[in-house]
Amino acid sequence: MSAHERGNGSGITLILGATSSIGKSLARRLAAEGRGLIVAGRDEPELRAIADDLKIRYQVPVRVLRYDATDFESHPAFFATCAAGEDGPLTGVVFCQGAMFDQAEAERDFALSRQMIDVNYTSAVSLLSLAAAHLARRGTGYLCALSSVAGDRGRQSNFLYGATKSALTTYLQGLRNRLARQGVAVITVKPGFVDTAMTWGLLKPGSPLVASPDQVARAIERAIRQQKDHVYAPWFWRWIMAIIKSIPEPIFKRMRL
Ligand SMILES: NC(=O)c1ccc[n+]([C@@H]2O[C@H](COP(=O)([O-])OP(=O)(O)OC[C@H]3O[C@@H](n4cnc5c(N)ncnc54)[C@H](OP(=O)(O)O)[C@@H]3O)[C@@H](O)[C@H]2O)c1
Repeated sequence: MSAHERGNGSGITLILGATSSIGKSLARRLAAEGRGLIVAGRDEPELRAIADDLKIRYQVPVRVLRYDATDFESHPAFFATCAAGEDGPLTGVVFCQGAMFDQAEAERDFALSRQMIDVNYTSAVSLLSLAAAHLARRGTGYLCALSSVAGDRGRQSNFLYGATKSALTTYLQGLRNRLARQGVAVITVKPGFVDTAMTWGLLKPGSPLVASPDQVARAIERAIRQQKDHVYAPWFWRWIMAIIKSIPEPIFKRMRL
């Protein structure tokens, strides 16, 4: 079977933020299932290296497309190119991009806060709204986005990032509600601590609470296959966050979290 035919079987999945650690692991898992991919991001040489590796290993079609999350005006043309369907219909979109800066620095420098808002939320509205309209027209497919446990409750150590993820979670919840009757699944994934470039130097190596990018990619792949509405990754974060969310505000505001 040619790479083109393998990709056609299940449609093409667009990975936004394909150079992220989690995005790269997920791309390998989806390609191993025979899905064709579009790997999209800012760093073209890195994207080309990712695509070449996937094509050789899994014989699936992989296109490379450049976009910048914060160049909002360019999004309609970028998405039209993604949907043009050279290797098969675009049936899935996974939003893996993200930015996180130190809370104290972002409190001092609004430009850093603004970048988190734009990369994590504003661009999701811009890009996923285009994707939603495309999939709703086709009457099938899925959108999946990486939110975070940080969005479940504002904590003094990380609330500027957390607020962007809360907004993303709420947006996805509404989009799921709107698209449910149009045959399009919307999947929210909330990872806990993951050992990636984003958290470099922040996590205790070897801690049982720290997952690898591949563990999270496995949970995402399963959530897509089972068309789940929302999942925590790894699963135990559901229970940790249930406890954190249940702490009464008068007590919570005195805690150092
Ligand atoms: N790591 C964690 O502990 C953790 C926990 C919960 C949720 N998450 C979420 O999971 C997702 C993936 O995280 P990760 O840790 O794998 O990320 P990562 O390795 O730090 O990668 C971040 C990605 O975002 C892309 N990006 C940043 N600004 C961009 C822009 N303006 N335009 C286009 N792309 C841009 C980066 O592209 P470049 O390569 O061009 O910089 C890169 O692909 C993110 O949404 C993150 O918030 C992560």
